Amino acid sequence: MRIEGSIALVTGANRGLGKAFVDCLIQRGATKVYAGARDPSSVQPLVDTHGDRVVPVPLDVTSDPSVADAAQTADDVTLVINNAGVLEQQGLMEAGSLTPLRHELDVNLLGIARMCLAFAPVLKTTGGGAIANMLSVASHHGFAPFGTYCVSKAAAMSLTQSLRYELRTQGTDVHGIYAGFITTDMTADLQVDMTSPDAIANNSFDGIEADHLDIDADERSVAVRNMIREADLDTIQQAYFDRADEFYAAHGKS
Ligand SMILES: NC(=O)c1ccc[n+]([C@@H]2O[C@H](COP(=O)([O-])OP(=O)(O)OC[C@H]3O[C@@H](n4cnc5c(N)ncnc54)[C@H](OP(=O)(O)O)[C@@H]3O)[C@@H](O)[C@H]2O)c1
Repeated sequence: MRIEGSIALVTGANRGLGKAFVDCLIQRGATKVYAGARDPSSVQPLVDTHGDRVVPVPLDVTSDPSVADAAQTADDVTLVINNAGVLEQQGLMEAGSLTPLRHELDVNLLGIARMCLAFAPVLKTTGGGAIANMLSVASHHGFAPFGTYCVSKAAAMSLTQSLRYELRTQGTDVHGIYAGFITTDMTADLQVDMTSPDAIANNSFDGIEADHLDIDADERSVAVRNMIREADLDTIQQAYFDRADEFYAAHGKS
């Protein structure tokens, strides 16, 4: 689909990649961008920059009523970007409880599911349009330092794949966007090569405009997808976390 002339909604639009998605949508000629945020006042800087083409919308993707209200407000939307996400940075055993996994599933998986349930009928009325779900290299394979996050992102990839078929009849494209590490608050304490949010956003919209359903938005995600064909666990882990050896050594694992 073309970004120019689209009416988009971005979840988690107030910072990080979500903010870059909004900037990029405006730069590429979107008519209007609904900027979803738990605290809508936190997207005021985007309104200050872009004017009334950015419309703040209160949106907590873990809340059914909040998502339903957003779908009523943004009833002219043609492109939904499910960007909101959380990372707890641990494995299940390290967590020692289900709490972080539940949180990640609620935002990263059920958040997307809630949004799709609420917005698919809207997209049907506006001509089909598209949904783009922000996934990760972590969707492809479990990795101990982010074990519970990987579960949520793998499940979100599976949902993305099946929704493609479910929504095809109404003409809605369902994209999956994959990335390694992006320079945002989420990864502020990690020492790895990262890609800027602006580059990820631009590559994502290039992919959407080219009608690519699976979009590898950085070099790391391209490398991981290529290596998956070899199905070598060690190589894959090294590819998406280039300090994996160091991590395991520090944690007494070989
Ligand atoms: N950073 C990376 O390296 C990386 C790599 C691959 C994929 N991703 C994915 O990219 C997406 C954006 O992440 P980011 O790096 O920009 O992270 P971030 O800087 O931590 O921002 C996360 C965003 O999600 C929002 N959010 C969290 N819980 C929410 C909820 N219940 N309802 C609505 N919004 C909620 C946050 O809003 P508040 O300000 O209200 O908390 C914030 O806007 C996520 O899906 C993430 O998994 C990130």
